[in-house]
Amino acid sequence: MKVLGIETSCDDTSVAVYDSDTGSVANLISSQVDLHDHFGGVVPELASRAHLVNLLPLVDVLLKRENLTLQDLDGVAVTSGPGLIGALLVGLSTGKALSLAADRPLVGIHHIEGHILANALTGELVLPAVVLVVSGGHTELIHMPCIGRYESLGGTLDDAAGEAFDKTAKLLGLPYPGGPHIDRLARQGKPGRFALPRPLLKDKRPVFSFSGLKTAVRLVIDGLPQPLSEQDVCDVCRDLQDAIVDVLAGKLFALADDLQVPAVYLAGGVAANGWLQDRVQAEADRRGVHFIPPKPLYCTDNAAMIALAGYHHLAAGRRDSLSLDSFARAPLTSWR
Ligand code: KG4
Ligand code: ZN
Repeated sequence: MKVLGIETSCDDTSVAVYDSDTGSVANLISSQVDLHDHFGGVVPELASRAHLVNLLPLVDVLLKRENLTLQDLDGVAVTSGPGLIGALLVGLSTGKALSLAADRPLVGIHHIEGHILANALTGELVLPAVVLVVSGGHTELIHMPCIGRYESLGGTLDDAAGEAFDKTAKLLGLPYPGGPHIDRLARQGKPGRFALPRPLLKDKRPVFSFSGLKTAVRLVIDGLPQPLSEQDVCDVCRDLQDAIVDVLAGKLFALADDLQVPAVYLAGGVAANGWLQDRVQAEADRRGVHFIPPKPLYCTDNAAMIALAGYHHLAAGRRDSLSLDSFARAPLTSWR
């Protein structure tokens, strides 16, 4: 089965074709980072307009490059939410038009399910598992007994992990999104220079809170000589990343130990963080728990994960009608 995937939930326009017979995926991303960088964050109206300009040409390029026509496809999968409504509507309307034109079934995919199933692009999933979803808008622990069943076990009380990276990066004058820059600069940072908190790490509940960490970092930065030296910036990045990774890994494995699952996974943009991947790998190896670090390309927003998720929905006989709507917010629910 060949499934076309479309992802336009935020500032990346992405299209992909997943082929279940070969397990291969062709993925194209048109990034809008340069468009929004000047504003220090994503401007929703600009994002929608850029999706509108880029999406159909991107589908065209992908199909030509893969030597495919619309008739070669078996279905169309499109992110229906959560995300920016205008941006989602561009992808959804385009997905509907293509499904109607090609007379192929349409399925709407929850963006977070896409992020979770992106792990199946790196290797076969071992289930049941506990998945830590860490993106710009989500920090959530999910129990996944099988594909299509998701039980939320807890999440953040305030900011998402990605926001903690992005807001600190903004305080340090780094470009948006800040996560990859902090990941890179932290490598040259000296650990332990600032005593940053590990919010709720000792709390037994599977809950996170990152807003206090941002305040603590702001106080640290304000107390340093201005403008900050390159070494100061690297040291702040290192301690912030250490604090976030300590909390994320601590909570993930507390739950994995409790539930005695054979596997853990990371999902979402922050899952691309090298330090987080290394820590989770080390802890998983120590326990004999299965974990494969996801490829950074498939951690941040991409259509490959949507096409793959679409394949599972279509294979299970799920179909959506042309009245399918987009949504800004909604929890991931089970469909199987
Ligand atoms: O999943 P994603 O691409 O978009 C959302 O669905 O939100 O996640 C974007 C988030 C941003 O906060 C970005 O700073 C963060 O992922 N991110 C990273 C890294 N790469 C992306 N955070 C830490 N380290 C990275 N290497
Ligand atoms: Zn995402």
